[in-house]
Amino acid sequence: MNNKKNIIRLKNITFSYPGSDICTLDTLDLEINKGDRLGMMAPNGSGKTTLLHTIMGLCKPDSGVIEIFGKRLKQEKDFTPIRSKIGLLFQDSDDQLFCPTVLEDVAFGPLNLGFSQQDAIDIAKTTLEKLGIQGVEKNVTHRMSGGQKRLIALAAVLAMEPEVLLLDEPTAGLDNRVREKLINILNGLDITYLVISHDFDFIKAVTDKIYSMESGKILTDEKIHIHRHEHIHKHGKRPHVHK
Ligand SMILES: Nc1ncnc2c1ncn2[C@@H]1O[C@H](COP(=O)(O)OP(=O)(O)OP(=O)(O)O)[C@@H](O)[C@H]1O
Ligand SMILES: [Mg+2]
Repeated sequence: MNNKKNIIRLKNITFSYPGSDICTLDTLDLEINKGDRLGMMAPNGSGKTTLLHTIMGLCKPDSGVIEIFGKRLKQEKDFTPIRSKIGLLFQDSDDQLFCPTVLEDVAFGPLNLGFSQQDAIDIAKTTLEKLGIQGVEKNVTHRMSGGQKRLIALAAVLAMEPEVLLLDEPTAGLDNRVREKLINILNGLDITYLVISHDFDFIKAVTDKIYSMESGKILTDEKIHIHRHEHIHKHGKRPHVHK
């Protein structure tokens, strides 16, 4: 018997950007079950971000079925309620952060969920602290550095305590210390997530399965086996071919 509780199910999803004759997603299938800690590593332009935007209803597929928490989602109004339960970390932090100050950006989600002003502020402060970026609450968000914005965007997502996390290259621009902190935070969460990253060691540290994408479809870990290739040989740094 299959006891897995299905959270996200995409069936036969096809999507092309307007004006393009290329199917960025081509009869794609994906299942994410409760408790899954999935990683995704795939080449630039293979459609990873488009996939996350499709799950969130930001890209509307040309055909196929999207089911989230057991419900079929078709129109914009179907996606609105799930956006507070699924936390998407955008690939570009500037797409996530739009408030004047750091605190307002992080408190925005909890406020939207109905928390009081004071509770939202408390949640925002605690979340920033967890990520080690306390003391910048009053700073102007768009003047923060790229890595700091990444952390603030992450705090904004985590502050909503979503049931599912979709993280699009969370470690981009983060220094090693913060990256390690993020590994600890993700490993300490009892939550379903899908993490896109080009950082193999990071993805290996925080996920149980690594998927890829090719020709608009998902390649599951049964089909591929992504692994780090370490070797010693006498060619030194000279270009060489593996046989
Ligand atoms: N708004 C858009 N309009 C038209 N084409 C787009 C748009 N956004 C993305 N694309 C195209 O869709 C394809 C997939 O893009 P996507 O951003 O999903 O790739 P990705 O796998 O996330 O890449 P990366 O690793 O660089 O982030 C690319 O060829 C890209 O040029
Ligand atoms: Mg991307």
